[in-house]
Amino acid sequence: MPPFGKVWALITHGEWASTFEDIAYRRTGLSLRARLNIVLQNLSHALRWPISFAIPYYLTVEPASICNLQCPVCPCGLHKTIRNPAILPLADFKRLIDDIGEYLVLIQMWEWGEPFMNPDICEMIAYARSRGIVVICSTNCHFFEEEAVVRKLVDSGLDGLILAVDGATPEVYEKYRVGGDFRRVLAGIQRIVAEKERRGSAKPLLHLRMVINAFNESQIEAFKELGETLQVDQVAFKTINAGMGGESKNPGILPQDKNLIRKKKARHFQYRCLVSWCNPVLFSNGRIGLCGLACRGETELRATSDAASFFHVWNSREARTFRKNIRADCNHYPFCRECDCREPDFQRARFGVEKVARRMPSQPTGSQPGRGPGNGGRR
Ligand SMILES: C[S@@+](CC[C@H](N)C(=O)[O-])C[C@H]1O[C@@H](n2cnc3c(N)ncnc32)[C@H](O)[C@@H]1O
Repeated sequence: MPPFGKVWALITHGEWASTFEDIAYRRTGLSLRARLNIVLQNLSHALRWPISFAIPYYLTVEPASICNLQCPVCPCGLHKTIRNPAILPLADFKRLIDDIGEYLVLIQMWEWGEPFMNPDICEMIAYARSRGIVVICSTNCHFFEEEAVVRKLVDSGLDGLILAVDGATPEVYEKYRVGGDFRRVLAGIQRIVAEKERRGSAKPLLHLRMVINAFNESQIEAFKELGETLQVDQVAFKTINAGMGGESKNPGILPQDKNLIRKKKARHFQYRCLVSWCNPVLFSNGRIGLCGLACRGETELRATSDAASFFHVWNSREARTFRKNIRADCNHYPFCRECDCREPDFQRARFGVEKVARRMPSQPTGSQPGRGPGNGGRR
């Protein structure tokens, strides 16, 4: 159960504050029904009965299951995803938000693929934000070339944006982010920073992230400097999952420094998975899934467009069977055996989050393109 203070703020003020992927957020204005729903939902997690009493208050949405990059351990970039690549229709997203938006605290607006390849992404974010739902997204930063898109992004009210930039120089960046263009990425980030500054907007909070791999492990300090040069809000690091979605184990991608590697030790550990009780996914094909990491659609249920309501799909026979099997044996499904979340080290996967110091307005350097590391300025 959540701590008493959190429950008190929920019941008395309809407020829920926490952090998600190291980004602090606060959902306000929850209705009485939504407050009661959160209590029931926590009871469902605790009991792990096959039937869930309430609507989950975290939702993952996959705006697109296609990507412009070919990262060496990602099943989407390597085209190993068995689900047909798709772009989530705006109507499917709106239908689900109309159905359960009142109860939602937060939407994680990515799963596999690049969210900004969906032309309606900013409308989706704005639609959720207009209902007070916190929205956090992650991007490879290749789709901020047009000022109009950047304006729409800031207008959407997005709460937090993870800028997945896995290197501090073009040569290193492009080894992991295969097919990526480092200069285009930096220019896109600079456009968002400038637009936020022009509007005096604190949102979206910009969280610059490096997943540490064999190529970039010596660039930790340079990456922090990149964050300062770009004037994002936070810089952070994450240890790499060398076989995302259980698809493509690639040990050559691991850093040399053993302290920067997740330790695998718990394959037989009795993991108490809660994901199918609390975090459904709206996949890009319009179907509801019980686990987003099951990238081949192993936990897919019906589309909400075919059914009476989300609650009906959420507690369908298939969903109940899935929960029953997971509860009885955390190794029941082969894809669960590959799941990194069950490793105790997963809890420490993200680290080193630092707030970037704001530059004084009189300070003359750095905000123009061409001055930063990797942009030819310092190395
Ligand atoms: C798989 S990406 C998909 C969304 C989007 N295309 C992006 O690049 O952010 C989602 C998140 O996974 C993280 N990520 C990428 N490769 C990873 C890996 N091998 N292990 C752990 N996290 C990874 C990224 O930092 C990003 O925030």
